[in-house]
Amino acid sequence: MAPSTRVRKAVFPVAGLGTRFLPATKASPKEMLPVVDKPLIQYAVEEAYEAGIRHMIFVTGRSKRAIEDHFDTAYELESELEAAHKQELLALVRSVQPADMDCAYVRQPRSLGLGHAVLCAEALVGDEPFAVLLADDLMVGKPGGPGVMAQMTEAFAKQGRSLLAVQEVPLEHTRRYGIVQGEAAGGALLRIDAIVEKPAPEQAPSRMGVAGRYILTPAIFGLIRSQPRGVGGEIQLTDAIARLLEQEAVYAYQYAGKRYDCGSKEGFLEATVELALQHPEVGGAFRQYLKGLAL
Ligand code: G1P
Repeated sequence: MAPSTRVRKAVFPVAGLGTRFLPATKASPKEMLPVVDKPLIQYAVEEAYEAGIRHMIFVTGRSKRAIEDHFDTAYELESELEAAHKQELLALVRSVQPADMDCAYVRQPRSLGLGHAVLCAEALVGDEPFAVLLADDLMVGKPGGPGVMAQMTEAFAKQGRSLLAVQEVPLEHTRRYGIVQGEAAGGALLRIDAIVEKPAPEQAPSRMGVAGRYILTPAIFGLIRSQPRGVGGEIQLTDAIARLLEQEAVYAYQYAGKRYDCGSKEGFLEATVELALQHPEVGGAFRQYLKGLAL
């Protein structure tokens, strides 16, 4: 049977400690930090849902209970809203968890890196292609256009090979990203020849940095399992992808849209300001407020 080109499952590695946002993340998961009125993880889950994915797999760790509660039924809240006839709020609360979406949770018992987090999801993913979404990267498609994961599942449906979302990054920032080198392969695709995790600018093969969106074939699991630790002493997904390249074609996908690096304070603030400006409820007033600031 030909391998499936349909992506049904998404993995969300959410076990990270969020040290860059201490003290906010001392007792709450960083993925629950809100941008305007939704937690970061909800943006990522909605992006996967929009792409037709219905099975969400969270790789969690200690102190991440709030994420499970967020995607579960909130009985007390719902019955109070119902009793108070607050139908709009009720619909809003229920919309977090559409009836046709299911969530599964697996623990990453130790912080051994992104590759290791993905491997923790192996039993839940099984032998089929799957998406990985890093909630720290808040991705917004072009206005009126599809989200980034929807763009990627469409591209994957055509060629069935692993895909990594990429964007050009400033040379001085190569140390923050997986960096790919590739050849133009038509449209938004590059066929990857090499990938390196967090190289110094002088060692970077290009300025094409990987954003936190991947569609991977299940061959990646065996490679991660035998992957020695890399940069930062962690089992790096990028290193396993570098070995996947020796077995299968892997493509980089230059997405249409914008990435906010919500793992950093600056990126988080940019996302907050820009999404607030677009928000139907507060956008207009917020624009007026910003205009009035003596900057
Ligand atoms: C991870 C990946 C890196 C990728 C980045 C995107 O790094 O290891 O290859 O470019 O996400 O955000 P992290 O930001 O978790 O250090």
